[in-house]
Amino acid sequence: MKRTLVKNIGILQTPAGCYSHKGSKQGVNLKLKDAAIAIEDGLIREITEDGKLPEGEFDEVIDAEGNLVTPGLVDGHTHLVFGGYRQHEIAMKLAGADYLDILKAGGGILDTVRKTREATEEELVEKSMGFLDEMLNLGVTTTEIKSGYGLDLENELKLLRVIRTLGEKHAMDVVPTFMGPHAVPPEYEGRGDEYIDMVCSTMLPEIRKENLAEFCDVFTEDSVFNAEQSRRYMTCARSLGFELKIHADEIEAIGGSELAGEMGAASAEHLIAITESGMEALAAGGTTAMCLPATSFYLDKTYAPARKMIEKGIPVAIASDFNPGSCPSLNLQFAANLGSLKYKLTPEEVLTAITINPACAIDRGDVVGTLEKGKQADLVIWDAPDFEMICYRFGSNLAKHVIKNGELVK
Ligand code: NIG
Ligand code: FE
Repeated sequence: MKRTLVKNIGILQTPAGCYSHKGSKQGVNLKLKDAAIAIEDGLIREITEDGKLPEGEFDEVIDAEGNLVTPGLVDGHTHLVFGGYRQHEIAMKLAGADYLDILKAGGGILDTVRKTREATEEELVEKSMGFLDEMLNLGVTTTEIKSGYGLDLENELKLLRVIRTLGEKHAMDVVPTFMGPHAVPPEYEGRGDEYIDMVCSTMLPEIRKENLAEFCDVFTEDSVFNAEQSRRYMTCARSLGFELKIHADEIEAIGGSELAGEMGAASAEHLIAITESGMEALAAGGTTAMCLPATSFYLDKTYAPARKMIEKGIPVAIASDFNPGSCPSLNLQFAANLGSLKYKLTPEEVLTAITINPACAIDRGDVVGTLEKGKQADLVIWDAPDFEMICYRFGSNLAKHVIKNGELVK
């Protein structure tokens, strides 16, 4: 048995519990002064405060030097496995093309689909391992990853196998999501209904059989998949035992949030254009709002009404949305800065939004997302005295040390 002590923690700040926090509870964090954490075999055994130290012998002692400690961050929304990049789109954007124009012209997601189909499983694993290293270095210890750049059975299975390998090989905990309906592939151009039929009859049963995904997601958007196609897909996914996610109201509100709430989806994601009725549906369905402020920043769009959603009793999470098109950044610290500056969330609300709320939205609230006895010892020692500093300093990596399952990985 390995025993580790993390001592001399100036402030230990964490939400509490295994459930998502909404309304005024979103802004409630525990703040323990002069704290210490005893870790046993990768799990938290005891947390002490006010200078008291846990009893017993330790194999390793880590000195936090009076700094802030929080739970390891949880990124609840990424498209991290993809071939190539899309830096050439910058020139198109400068010339006035917007995100959906580029996709409609056969570029955007479809450009990444071409490059991803050409890449081997090994190449994708190697590239993605590098991204996971970067994320861990920034303090992220659990992440969701979506497929969705294969768009045919062979290539979607390839992506999901890459995601499974990443979870096995990397220290990061990885939660897999299938996103076959990310765009209509070229072979089905103008035949979105038939593509959804094929996804339901062929892809979903195969993914179930191989147990390659926990969640299913769909891009419900003007000129991509409409609400009816999305409903059909979600109904089929649910009947096979998958949990649901949906890209809703990213650019146009076409009923995605209403569908999410009605179907009890775990999360609705983006929500830049969400309407009053969409917010009511999310609140009624207990659906988490997965907000992606770095995407608003990169697409130069408005910001999702996260403040308002908290006031309406919707649990709010903040994720990176890392992908090669709408958000080529995996920096969850930067998303947290935007959560504070653009969404106007308090530092406590932001911490909840990047720890326990996304953990619950990816079904990991019982093991990560807070620091408490029995949970995984995933934590960040920050180069900062308090969490206000994390919301305030942007553009630097303030994660000084990262502990994953009790091991110092940075
Ligand atoms: O969440 N909107 C759909 N999917 C991604 C973008 C994917 C891409 O552009 O490659 C998103 O923004
Ligand atoms: Fe996304």
